[in-house]
Amino acid sequence: QPSKAWAGRFREPTDRLVEAFSRSIAVDKRLYPQDIRGSIAHCQTLAKAGVLSRRDQAAIVRGLQLVQHELERERFKFLPEDEDIHMAIERRLTELIGPLGGKLHTGRSRNDQVALDVRLYVREQLTVLIERLTEFQRVLVAQATKHLDVPMPGYTHLQRAQPVLLAHHLLAYVEMFLRDQARLADARTRVNVMPLGSGALAGSNYPVDRLYTATLLDFPAVTQNSLDAVSDRDFMIEVAAALAVIMMHLSRMSEELILWATQEFHFVDLPDGFCTGSSMMPQKKNPDVPELVRGKTGRVYGHLIGLMTTLKALPLSYNRDLQEDKPALFDALDTTQDCVEVMTELMRRLKVDRAALTRALTGGGMLATELADYLVTRGVPFREAHAITGKIVRWALDAGRELSDLTVKELGVFSPRFEKSVLQRLTVQGAIDRKSQIGGTARAQVVRRLKELTKLLA
Ligand code: ARG
Repeated sequence: QPSKAWAGRFREPTDRLVEAFSRSIAVDKRLYPQDIRGSIAHCQTLAKAGVLSRRDQAAIVRGLQLVQHELERERFKFLPEDEDIHMAIERRLTELIGPLGGKLHTGRSRNDQVALDVRLYVREQLTVLIERLTEFQRVLVAQATKHLDVPMPGYTHLQRAQPVLLAHHLLAYVEMFLRDQARLADARTRVNVMPLGSGALAGSNYPVDRLYTATLLDFPAVTQNSLDAVSDRDFMIEVAAALAVIMMHLSRMSEELILWATQEFHFVDLPDGFCTGSSMMPQKKNPDVPELVRGKTGRVYGHLIGLMTTLKALPLSYNRDLQEDKPALFDALDTTQDCVEVMTELMRRLKVDRAALTRALTGGGMLATELADYLVTRGVPFREAHAITGKIVRWALDAGRELSDLTVKELGVFSPRFEKSVLQRLTVQGAIDRKSQIGGTARAQVVRRLKELTKLLA
């Protein structure tokens, strides 16, 4: 068995069981591009400090590029004693360029190394996710534009409440995803801090110019405390929290799609390619995609709680517990990226059943608030108007009548204030267009916001 880089002080080799137990390579091998990029920057920093000759630096960098080449072409052979990606790369580098490879780790620890790698990785992933969310919002904006003239019931308590535009409903989600992007961008500012040079915990014995390393790796700032730098994982927790909120939004949307795709609602038709059938019931078309998104939301919440629990009560500074951060973080990132992607395509191809939406606008008494507000314009205090309208609704329900079909004479039984002008108040279109303040569902307001969003997302 070849011995480990740190085997010097040990009398016996690592137990096989422990080797398998502590290995993280299956999870952290995805960090190899960041690890190599970080190692090259470290080499350059050591050379600038005069710790490494320019010749040695060039040879190590060339070796690292060879290792990268092998990893990219999947020609890299992982060995059982490769504990993690950092040790595997250094091991292979030394095989390729000889003992000179042993100089790479001068003044560095895996503790600041892994902190750097993950920060580089998360930084890239956040950029990708923010871009994917933009594309998702573009699709929602396109659907809103296409259905600008489609009214639907708006709900509270899942009971029909007041008519709104379908476009307004879709744009509500765009607002959520805009905030999600802002949260990711904000978290990114704290991810984007360079930890290398913190060593194992105390800092570096070598005159390394950490600001130079930061410039090489495109970081605007460096960490200010080595103990903090090797044990801080708040940046991951912030990212996981932002991901959990994104998933919560996707899950709410999924829930609505599942409901809307039922035969009972049938506001939408999900694309066939995004549904599955039943192995037994031939008629079934099941909304598995939104169901899975809803289900995966629990998984991402779990990762957030998992990370917080791993960090809780950890003494400073690095502890091996921290290795458990990556499975949670990576799965949270992967899951959220996948969900955003699949929901983007589903929403792109969503078909709206306008007839079903129109049918749903009748019978719910959704114009009752209009009736009450009409009485207010006639000088009736709102509470009184509410009570009068409540009685009208009760009467209409018993008589099996629509509010919009009532005559002025019939309304007059409940209040002498009703006049002919009430009739134009009792239309879905009118109810929608009167909500004309900023943020209301009036067509003009929705168009205004659509224009802003289209520009913002261009
Ligand atoms: N695989 C480790 C991790 O992910 C790297 C750091 C190991 N450091 C140590 N002192 N054992 O956290």
